[in-house]
Amino acid sequence: MGHRLLWTPGLSIVTDKARVGILISGRGSNMQSLVAAAREKDYPAKIVTVISNRPDAPGLAWAAAKKIPTVALDHKAFRSRDAFESELQKALDAAHVEIIALAGFMRLMTAGFVARWQDRMINIHPSLLPSFKGLHTHESALAAGVRIAGCTVHFVRHEMDAGPIIAQAAVPVLSTDTPVSLANRVLEAEHALYPEALRLVAAGRARVEHDKVVISEDVNQSVPLFSPAFNK
Ligand code: GAR
Repeated sequence: MGHRLLWTPGLSIVTDKARVGILISGRGSNMQSLVAAAREKDYPAKIVTVISNRPDAPGLAWAAAKKIPTVALDHKAFRSRDAFESELQKALDAAHVEIIALAGFMRLMTAGFVARWQDRMINIHPSLLPSFKGLHTHESALAAGVRIAGCTVHFVRHEMDAGPIIAQAAVPVLSTDTPVSLANRVLEAEHALYPEALRLVAAGRARVEHDKVVISEDVNQSVPLFSPAFNK
């Protein structure tokens, strides 16, 4: 994994990008942001497959139209989670996937699958974890009355929406917000955050130590975000 340098006969040096498989269940807007980032020449990852557990996921049709290899694995067609995951593993192996990026993938994985992909599988969740895990995150954030919401990219562990945090983006909650308007504002932040988090992982700059992420060449931002903004 990481940004490696290879010697090829007769040529000088070529860079080898980390091979990423994206797993989706629906719209796939985060997948699109990763695909867009990976088109950049210097991006350290390449999207080699998009796999959906829902054959009718709009994101799958989008990826196929962009000529990205796609796989539809209808989870309802399998007797068990293990049977589904064994086919999933075959599809990942066939594409030589090194990193899995979950992007709105709404299936829980077994402990065995998660362990197999330990520190090589990442997820994006639309809250500042560990707050508001699970579904209906924006409703929960509004019900709790928080003034700052956001999104998190983390390495996947067996517990839902848990695992070492790679990166987060904070988004102010407005007094006029509905779950939909907040979701839209957080989604915009997700689209900016996920490609940057994957960049860190693919380049080998985010590594897990004692179940926390250490980032090499960390760029720190010390300015606080106020919400409300206290404009005078
Ligand atoms: C995103 O908001 C993502 O954070 C969320 O599902 C949405 C998928 O949208 N994921 C989770 O809630 C995972 N627990 P997309 O298909 O347009 O990327």
